[in-house]
Order: sequence, then structure tokens, then C-alpha cells
Amino acid sequence: MKVAIGSDHAGFQLKEELKKVLQEMGHECIDFGPGGSESVDYPDFGEKVSLAVSSKTVDRGVLICGTGIGMSIVANKFPDIRASLCNDLYTARFSRLHNDANVLVIGGRIVGIDLAREILKTWMTVEFEGGRHLRRLQKIKSIEERYSGWTTKT
Ligand code: RB5
Repeated sequence: MKVAIGSDHAGFQLKEELKKVLQEMGHECIDFGPGGSESVDYPDFGEKVSLAVSSKTVDRGVLICGTGIGMSIVANKFPDIRASLCNDLYTARFSRLHNDANVLVIGGRIVGIDLAREILKTWMTVEFEGGRHLRRLQKIKSIEERYSGWTTKT
């Protein structure tokens, strides 16, 4: 698969490690930065990776910030993105089985390198179950379409 990866400064070290895992697994990895651990703003890098996934330039995305929360919020703003914050193996597995997650988010300040490697390997290999879960994803897509352009301003 073609996988886009990005982080902020809090996720930089883990990004470098996870790139190696993706390459070892035989995936093509496109690094959207940053190129070092200097302080940056996570929305800038979350946007780049999310755009690549949303536009189907890549098959999947991986995002890492301190908690994983900021990157999750950014990624789920984009059409057709199903970003899942997975700081444990159970969530990684079920985010694929039930949610067909196409962006994996990890908290670089929460998860150690060894666990993060296993989370990524699980997430990259588990297949979506479909069936009743597909119906639920279709409902999410319908919400996305019905509320696009919706505003709280009067
Ligand atoms: C950066 O200090 C931190 O706020 C960021 O990495 C992330 O945790 C945001 O959700």
C-alpha cells in the first residue's frame, strides 16, 4: 500500500521509527514531515496527510502528535477520512474490523516505541469486516454529506 505519514515535534521520533516498520512490511511510505524535532503546529502536517488520503493519492495515512487528539480532530474534518486514535492493540484491531479506519493516529507521548510498532503492524494487516459495519459507515457518509456547509451562524 501507499501510506502517507506525518507528525508534529511530539511525534517526530516515533514517525521515524514507524517509517521503518512500513518499509519493512513492503509498503511505500511518503513522509509529509516535519524533517526534525523543532516545534511545529500539528494542524499543518495533519492537513497534508489527510488531504493525501481524502483525495485518494495514497491508500492510508499515519499521524502522530503528543496525545493523538489534535491530529484526530484535524483528520476527521476531511471527507472520507475515518481517523482512529489507537494507543492500544484492541482499538487498532477493531478500528479496522468495524470502522474501516483509513488514518491511524498514535499519541507519541503516550505509547512506547515497541507497542507503537505492534499497533501499526496490526492496523496495517487487519481487514474490514463489512456487513452491518458497512451500513454504519454509509450512515456516517450520509451525515458528512447532509451537514457539509452547515454552520451554527444565524
Ligand atoms: C504539542 O505540545 C501537543 O499539544 C500536540 O502534540 C498534541 O498532543 C495535540 O493534540
